[in-house]
Amino acid sequence: MADKKPILIDGKQIAKDIKEEIKKEVAEILDHGQRPPHLVAILVGDDGASLSYVSSKEKQSQEVGFTSSVYRFPESISEQELLETIDFLNRDNEVDGYIVQMPLPQHIDARKIVDKIDPKKDVDGFHPVNVGRMVLSLPSYIPATPYGIVTLIERSGIETEGKNCVVIGRSDIVGTPVALLMSRKGEHRNCTVTLCHSKTQNIKELCLQADIIVVAIGKPEFLKADMVKEGAVVIDVGIHRIKDNSEKGYHITGDVDFENVSKKCSYITPVPGGVGPMTIVSLLTNTLSAYKHEFYQE
Ligand code: GUN
Repeated sequence: MADKKPILIDGKQIAKDIKEEIKKEVAEILDHGQRPPHLVAILVGDDGASLSYVSSKEKQSQEVGFTSSVYRFPESISEQELLETIDFLNRDNEVDGYIVQMPLPQHIDARKIVDKIDPKKDVDGFHPVNVGRMVLSLPSYIPATPYGIVTLIERSGIETEGKNCVVIGRSDIVGTPVALLMSRKGEHRNCTVTLCHSKTQNIKELCLQADIIVVAIGKPEFLKADMVKEGAVVIDVGIHRIKDNSEKGYHITGDVDFENVSKKCSYITPVPGGVGPMTIVSLLTNTLSAYKHEFYQE
C-alpha cells in the first residue's frame, strides 16, 4: 500500500453537517411555537483556554439557534456559592443543559461540584450516573470528545466489527470512555479494545496489531510510523502549539507524527480540523437531547 494516499477524516465538514441538522431541528421547534433549547456554561476565573472554549460554545450555540448563557464568576467564588448556583440551574425549567468549565480553582472540589449537577442536565456527561449509564449501554450523555471520535468513525463509514482498537491514554474524559464505547455492542463499535497508558510496557507491539488507533496521550508526535501497520485508521486527539522559526512563530501538531504516519494509514484525522471541531458539536447534540428529554423521563 506504499504511497497510497490516506483518506483524511474531515472533522470540520462533518461538524458543519451536524450543525446544519441541529439548526434545522431547532427551526422546526420554533415553527411549532416552542422555545429554543438553552445551554448554560459556568465559567470561574479567567484562564485563557477556558475563556476561548466557552466563547466558542456560546457562538456555536447561537449559530444553531439555541439560547446560550454564560455565568461568569471570579476565581474567589466559594465552593458553597458555586453549589448554590448549580442548585439554582437544576431547578430552572428554562435551562435544558449546562456545563461547569474545567479546571476549577484549587479551593473548589470539582468532584463535589460535578456530583451536584442534575444528571438530566449534565450535557458534559461527567456525572457518575451518566458515566454508569454509558458503561451499561443505557441512553446517556456521552462526553464531548469521545462522542466526537465515535461520530467521526461512524460518519466516515469505517469498519469496526471484530477489529483491534488500541486507545493510548486512559483519562476519565477521553481515553477511558473511548475504549469503553469502541468495545460496546452496536454498529461502528464491536471492537476488541486495548487501553494503553503510562505503565504499558509494549505499546509499539500492541499498536502494530491495531486496525484502529486512538491517540489521546498529550505528547506531541508520540505515535511514530514504525508503530503503525499498513492500512490502519488513526484518530489523533492531541493539539499542541510548537514554537518554531516560521513567520507565525509556531505550528500546530497533534499526538501523531502526521507526515510519516499518514503514509501508512487508510484513514487519519488531521490536526487541526479532525477531532477538535467535533467536540462542541457533540455538546450541542447532547443539549438537543436534553431539551427533548431523550434519555430521562421527568
Ligand atoms: N475543559 C476542557 N474540556 C472541557 C469539557 O469538555 N467540559 C468542561 N466542562 N470543561 C472542559
